[in-house]
Amino acid sequence: MPQKIRKAVFPVAGMGTRFLPATKANPKEMLTVVDKPLIQYAAEEAVSAGITELIFVTGRNKRSIADHFDKAYELEAELELKNKTALLETVKGILPKGVSCIYLRQADALGLGHAVSCARPAVGNEPFAVLLADDLIMGNGKTCLQEMVETYEYHGCSVLGAQQVPMEDTSKYGVVDAEKAGDRLWSVSGMVEKPAPEDAPSNISVVGRYILTPHIFDLLETIPSGAGGEIQLTDAIAELLQKERVLAYEFTGKRYDCGDKLGYLQANVEYALKHDELGEGFAEYLRGLEV
Ligand code: G1P
Repeated sequence: MPQKIRKAVFPVAGMGTRFLPATKANPKEMLTVVDKPLIQYAAEEAVSAGITELIFVTGRNKRSIADHFDKAYELEAELELKNKTALLETVKGILPKGVSCIYLRQADALGLGHAVSCARPAVGNEPFAVLLADDLIMGNGKTCLQEMVETYEYHGCSVLGAQQVPMEDTSKYGVVDAEKAGDRLWSVSGMVEKPAPEDAPSNISVVGRYILTPHIFDLLETIPSGAGGEIQLTDAIAELLQKERVLAYEFTGKRYDCGDKLGYLQANVEYALKHDELGEGFAEYLRGLEV
């Protein structure tokens, strides 16, 4: 049995420029889909997959993320006083028992690969997960990371969360060169960051879910800056797969690009329609809209 995945890294230092002005003073990871911030969805997904240590790589203006996962004494006392038990449980349950948070600062915005390398002191020498909160994935029975952890436990190697995208969209993603290795599974032989469609090795794109072996850290320290002048996680993975097996796994859920205004709106509509208390009323409201 390979080493258990206990830790997840959340790179949350990005500036969220695609979402201005909403993200001028608020972190993009704190944007809400219906009633929860994006970062909470990502943390819940990690916890669903058995992760007990959440490592946030933060930057300036990101304090509200730490506040969100912290105890809120005044609020809890107030809710208790007013007998608002359900709300109190909601607030207390944001961080389940036995799960802890670590916050590290990424002083310079040098790219996703750099953000992940900042987590090295907290991850140490064990395999770990990386989740990008602006890729919101609605699970299909299991969550995306649960499926990926199962794949990792079976194969014992790095696993990338992947989906097939229209060829014209390859320039938005890390794209793999891969051969089919099973149901929803691809054996990766190359990876490029944001290739133009004519240069893309396939349409199998990596979305913001990764399970990586700790060897990635050494590689992140040696790779030169890549696309956009940034230290790219994709480039380090391209090195990793020269030395170790790397699989791409096509998860069964649906992914929303919440780093993009349209994707974010779609997520809000679809999560609201599935919401226990709001779904019915919201569906009725939508049906009544004149378009
Ligand atoms: C990052 C990664 C890219 C990946 C994407 C998924 O890009 O660099 O390889 O496909 O996330 O969302 P970003 O969207 O942060 O530019």
